[in-house]
Amino acid sequence: MKKIEIQGKTGHSQIFVGERLKNLASYLDQKQVVIITDDNVAGFYEKDFPKAHVIRIGTGEGVKTLKTVEGIYQQLIDLEADRSLFLLGIGGGIVCDMSGFVASTYLRGVDFGYVPTTLLAQVDASVGGKTGVNFMGYKNMVGVFNQPEFVICDPGVLTTLPQRDLISGFAEIVKHAAIADESYFTYLEENAAKALALDPAVLQQIIYDSVMIKAEIVNRDETEKGERRKLNFGHTFGHAVEKTAGIPHGESVSIGMIVASLLSMNKNLLAEKDVDRLRNLLTLFNLPVGIEADKTKMLDALARDKKREGDDIYFVLLSEIGRAVVEKITLAELERVLQSMP
Ligand SMILES: NC(=O)c1ccc[n+]([C@@H]2O[C@H](COP(=O)([O-])OP(=O)(O)OC[C@H]3O[C@@H](n4cnc5c(N)ncnc54)[C@H](O)[C@@H]3O)[C@@H](O)[C@H]2O)c1
Ligand SMILES: [Zn+2]
Repeated sequence: MKKIEIQGKTGHSQIFVGERLKNLASYLDQKQVVIITDDNVAGFYEKDFPKAHVIRIGTGEGVKTLKTVEGIYQQLIDLEADRSLFLLGIGGGIVCDMSGFVASTYLRGVDFGYVPTTLLAQVDASVGGKTGVNFMGYKNMVGVFNQPEFVICDPGVLTTLPQRDLISGFAEIVKHAAIADESYFTYLEENAAKALALDPAVLQQIIYDSVMIKAEIVNRDETEKGERRKLNFGHTFGHAVEKTAGIPHGESVSIGMIVASLLSMNKNLLAEKDVDRLRNLLTLFNLPVGIEADKTKMLDALARDKKREGDDIYFVLLSEIGRAVVEKITLAELERVLQSMP
């Protein structure tokens, strides 16, 4: 087991990579503990939960709303939970984001922790202190920055994760390597097959390296003013893919990373062989690297976002594998790259 520290203005957080869900009780003191989880996770793992009241939410982005949050507040009041409450989110990114938000607002804030049970939640959603819910169809529209007391990443729980959710996590992992660490990228190239087969040692190493990269970026820029933007690599175009093609987040980000790397190449920032390396690695993880849906619709979606945010589209580009830069891109440049893609 390895420990990583997050030192944020909104709090201090300890992340334990390789700890087991079964050992959770030793992290909890005598305070009243309430667990928030979802139906799937409860089905697999409730037997391993520490003794505590369990609040279940449903599954899917549709439950990530203020209405569900109100339901949780109601149950906490019924339990007469006071400020000594410790709220524990056990589940994927949806459970983590929502339990963090409830913990940050109930009685103006109580202590909380996460046991992320998806790969995406272990390497991304549970790290960095962003909590929140969707509102009126806008993703993560309402929320706060706040750090959990602890995060426990148990790679053992990933064996029950559906394949599509698993590879979504690998997209964010490839992103971390691409923006921050070439030797990690090489490690992924050499160990992709073992990672996909959930080899425990490889998985633990990957989760650790990814959390380290995200934690270091967050420690430098907790509330996303500069450095943290690099974590958006693949996401600017990825969000347009997600919205218009309706494919899962990680797969959309995979396509977005290819678009961003081609833009980088057209700007003479990145060598063609590095674009190929990225494409090959994503393919090793069974992630998509071409666009099957309507490119015009995606451009329109992105242009609409652009209008919302101001005139320029800022893209995270690569100057080499392991190094990201943020640059302005015109819609025309983007259109050229899209037309060149298969
Ligand atoms: N806070 C952040 O910084 C941040 C970062 C990235 C993503 N997010 C958020 O995370 C959410 C996506 O998270 P996600 O991909 O984990 O989705 P999710 O929470 O919906 O989980 C995916 C599916 O896997 C199931 N599941 C979870 N753990 C399982 C396990 N061990 N075995 C079997 N099934 C399991 C869930 O029930 C769900 O059906 C989005 O709402 C996104 O906005 C937040
Ligand atoms: Zn993402």
